[in-house]
Amino acid sequence: MPDSVLVHSPATLSNLGCGFDVFGLALTAPYDTIRLRRSSEPGVRIQHLDGYGLTTDPARNVAGVALLALLAEVPDAGGFDMEITKGIKPGSGVGSSAASAVGAVVAANALLGNRFTKMQLVGFAMAGEVVASGSRHADNIAPAIFGGFTVVRALEPALDILALPAPPLWVAVVHPQIELKTSDSRKVLPPAVPLGLAVRQWANVAGLVAGFLTADYDLIGRSMDDYIVEPARLPLIPGLAEARVRALAAGAIGGGISGSGPSIFMLNRTEAVAQAVGVAMGSVFAELGIEFNTYVGPVGTAGARVVSEV
Ligand code: HSE
Repeated sequence: MPDSVLVHSPATLSNLGCGFDVFGLALTAPYDTIRLRRSSEPGVRIQHLDGYGLTTDPARNVAGVALLALLAEVPDAGGFDMEITKGIKPGSGVGSSAASAVGAVVAANALLGNRFTKMQLVGFAMAGEVVASGSRHADNIAPAIFGGFTVVRALEPALDILALPAPPLWVAVVHPQIELKTSDSRKVLPPAVPLGLAVRQWANVAGLVAGFLTADYDLIGRSMDDYIVEPARLPLIPGLAEARVRALAAGAIGGGISGSGPSIFMLNRTEAVAQAVGVAMGSVFAELGIEFNTYVGPVGTAGARVVSEV
């Protein structure tokens, strides 16, 4: 068994419009890089090789907490030294915390002879996500582990996650440099939903799953609308409504807030359209004087993976 592994753990989209806390989609980039080394000294030690200044306290770091949850199941495993290089900016809304937590447990599993299933790894990584956002959700973790399109069907009484194929899609993501914490973005959500809106929403949920399974891009496009969560979050992201208008005019299939924001994503049929959509969305933030980053890439069919071992 190797003593050290290097893992790439990708950014992910969650919600995908109508599927709040349920749908997820893996990207190929950006990704976090986790180097994990076996150690005879029990416990977890963390070093950051990036400039984000995240905590190195394993009890407060999302990757540390996830690793400690896994280690609790393997009392004789010794300990780990972990180096984290974040390629995904924290707080961007593309699953930054989930990527680090997932990278850590995928690396540990490789060092421990792959004794845990992917479903179990989701459970460990979720412990980290609770630290990051204060809520228990797996919609970024599931695609980071399984790749492709995922449905978190249930967390209780047991994790039930569906890993489904995604048709070829190109994703454009624009990340306006606005600070928006997931915990704050969840505080604005309505505690109850009128039945009529719920009916429209679950009709879209069914349509989106069917669209993914049959590669029906038009069905995907007309099923993405979120009548419940996005309207509540709209005021938190200046430029969102206009970015959507321009993205659709540039040929996007559909999109919306990426996770809890502030990033905005659009799904597209081709790379060329995705590039044009990225430019169209970016123009809104340029006009508003808000700095932004743009990512364009294909959907990731694989989740976090070991890229080298020693
Ligand atoms: N589904 C979550 C939300 C994702 O929208 O709040 C945030 O990580």
